[in-house]
Amino acid sequence: MAPIRTHVVVDRFSPQAAELRAHFEERFADPHRATSDRFVWDLWNVPGQYTALRTPAYAYFPKRAYDAFHQALVWWGRRTLGCHDVSPPWLSCYVNGCEQRWHSDVPHGPFAFVFSLTPSAKRFRGGQTLILKPAILDFWRHFGAPLRAFEEAEVLDEVEPKFNRLTVFDPRLPHGVRRVDGSLEPRDGRLVIHGWFVQPRPFIEGPVRQAELARELRRLDAVVGKSLESGLEVDGALSLTLTVAPGGQVVKAGVLVDTTRTVPEVEALRRALVRDVQRAARSFVFRPRSSASRIALPVLFERQGA
Ligand SMILES: [Fe+2]
Repeated sequence: MAPIRTHVVVDRFSPQAAELRAHFEERFADPHRATSDRFVWDLWNVPGQYTALRTPAYAYFPKRAYDAFHQALVWWGRRTLGCHDVSPPWLSCYVNGCEQRWHSDVPHGPFAFVFSLTPSAKRFRGGQTLILKPAILDFWRHFGAPLRAFEEAEVLDEVEPKFNRLTVFDPRLPHGVRRVDGSLEPRDGRLVIHGWFVQPRPFIEGPVRQAELARELRRLDAVVGKSLESGLEVDGALSLTLTVAPGGQVVKAGVLVDTTRTVPEVEALRRALVRDVQRAARSFVFRPRSSASRIALPVLFERQGA
């Protein structure tokens, strides 16, 4: 899945999806019952920008089912993105008129997620996650001959909120939620758990020690320093996955995700930097041990003064 150009979709993400959905259905089943657990929703309304019902997800669902979902999400982020944790997720419900207009989320975390508990046979129009295509962000570069007209599908990526679908995207990209056109019944709305993957830092599964890795990471300083001295200005996250053999050598250094970006004039330098970081990671050496290790290694870049 490298690089993430705009987004990644994982369908059938959680075995707990049906149980979480059933809990939501049950709590809204009888509108005449005024139990205290119905009074947890905030109508979040920033006029002209955001409108949705929301509540902290961790407090809403039965603990066992929610914890299982949450742990799976955290581990997915560790192994796939090199992010150690997730921000406390929101549960948001979009009924008629709810939306999120264009915005970016900086610096909430290097990756945003949306996990849908909306029934796949949706009972409203709209509700898609919208993400501006990179070509639009770099419009004039792609504008040249042959001149041609284009329409919305070439401006936006849109992701339907299918049931049990995890969508992950780079939240620096302008994004939003298409206005929901349907009823005011919460059970007919767009229902999602959402937040950000945070704390990008090395994550080790296996016997390699953090201190050993910290020592080897110094090898990256020279590589990155050389690129930055050459005038390259780059922003974003490059996450590598390293496989360390029992003998201590790195036998594989692949790119998990790459959201590093720069201006087109120095794109070749950015690609060279990614290759150099990979090559340096392949030269890491660890103490021999009885079993292999797997390391998710995020490397973050931020322009000076950015
Ligand atoms: Fe957002």
